[in-house]
Amino acid sequence: MAVKRLICISTKGASAVRETCGPLSGWDVCVISSLHEANRVLQTQRYLVGLLLDCIDTATAAESDQFLRRHCNVQWVGVIERSELDARESRALVVDHLCDFHTLPLDHARLHHTLGHAHGWAMLRERPLDQSSASGFQSIQGDSAAINALRAQIRKVAPVNAPVLIWGESGSGKELAAHAIHTNSLRAGGPFVPINCGALPSGLIQSELFGYERGSFTGAAKEKAGLIESAAGGTIFLDEIGDLPKDIQSNLLRFLQERTITRIGATREIAVDARVIAASHVNLKSAVAQGQFREDLYYRLNVLPIEVPPLRERKADLPLLAEHVFRTYSAEKGAHVKGFSSKAMRAMEQHDWPGNVRELINCIRRAMVLADGRLITPADLNLAGETSVFHGDALGESRVRAERDAICVSLANAGKNVTHAAKHLGVSRMTLYRLIAKYNISV
Ligand SMILES: Nc1ncnc2c1ncn2[C@@H]1O[C@H](COP(=O)(O)OP(=O)(O)OP(=O)(O)O)[C@@H](O)[C@H]1O
Ligand SMILES: [Mg+2]
Repeated sequence: MAVKRLICISTKGASAVRETCGPLSGWDVCVISSLHEANRVLQTQRYLVGLLLDCIDTATAAESDQFLRRHCNVQWVGVIERSELDARESRALVVDHLCDFHTLPLDHARLHHTLGHAHGWAMLRERPLDQSSASGFQSIQGDSAAINALRAQIRKVAPVNAPVLIWGESGSGKELAAHAIHTNSLRAGGPFVPINCGALPSGLIQSELFGYERGSFTGAAKEKAGLIESAAGGTIFLDEIGDLPKDIQSNLLRFLQERTITRIGATREIAVDARVIAASHVNLKSAVAQGQFREDLYYRLNVLPIEVPPLRERKADLPLLAEHVFRTYSAEKGAHVKGFSSKAMRAMEQHDWPGNVRELINCIRRAMVLADGRLITPADLNLAGETSVFHGDALGESRVRAERDAICVSLANAGKNVTHAAKHLGVSRMTLYRLIAKYNISV
């Protein structure tokens, strides 16, 4: 087994450390005599675990706090005289910065166990959080029954070449699921081309998706391959497929049937081998019933349906997701905040998250910037008002949902044009922008 490295801060020297801690087999211990020196060492060397032997009582609380805050990526274990815990400052240091602590006299076996545990945690934290992981599953956080069922579905549909239709509320993780299907398929080595059909200006969708030949319209000085062609050998992900205009729906249907496309202005067809994954946050079946979506295209796409559950149906995942978001952004910003207070975690668990994981991410990022203390509080999350609306207030809840739905429908009808949607809703543009932000609606 690889030797683990431990930075140990003690004013008393290496032999005193050995005497106090007993044999630390499996550890390569570096003993440092002051916080100042440790600061210097940690700037150039990487340690996952640190042991604070007597510095909490020798350095001032402010010095220790500053040092520990600066090196918050190290998992710190403290050794402290029991009487020290009577001092409020020492207790604050322990609570805010240490992953565990021991009182003197030391139980050597227990200390050894704690250090090993701290190392395990540090290794987990170090795991890459990006989406480039081999299976694409690491990026889907959560261990609830709902998310495990989703993973199982993804595993089943991934190796098949047929189209997949993903349904799920806004911000629930449809694109993440589509990406995981791609990375688990035989096409993983090919491109994954995501397209938000709702965000493409209607006049450009045809040329963006299918490409064009030189001179086929004013401004077409050179030929251009479309996005479907650029997904050859891989997967094309058509997000918000319900926003696709009817004429483009016919062209897409032809592609799904014939596996060929025709560029604008071209006379010949081009065979393209790209798998189609589509997603929608609106119920496409009712869009079919209302005549807004072609029925034949719906059945072509809906060969392998997958549903991404809303966050409120997998609240067991909240602590894990919240920690994941926190870690991702604290690495990015070097935030001064250390984590969530237990009340903040409870407030998050009680919230209904109409904007799902995207709303959670926005909420935590905002709280990390605004928080004054070391732990994020419920006030920093600003969920209190909404929580009381969503709980024990059926009328309030329906009103909030009705308002959100009305905005989504108007935006969809207006092709995501905020000015038109605001006019239709009878509110000013500024009000609509405020409501869009409040409900975390993607435009
Ligand atoms: N289970 C999860 N674990 C980690 N991150 C997640 C999870 N689900 C969603 N996310 C993150 O939440 C954000 C929204 O996810 P995604 O874009 O996949 O949602 P969506 O359903 O496609 O949203 P929209 O309907 O707005 O297009 C992304 O940043 C994504 O990485
Ligand atoms: Mg999306």
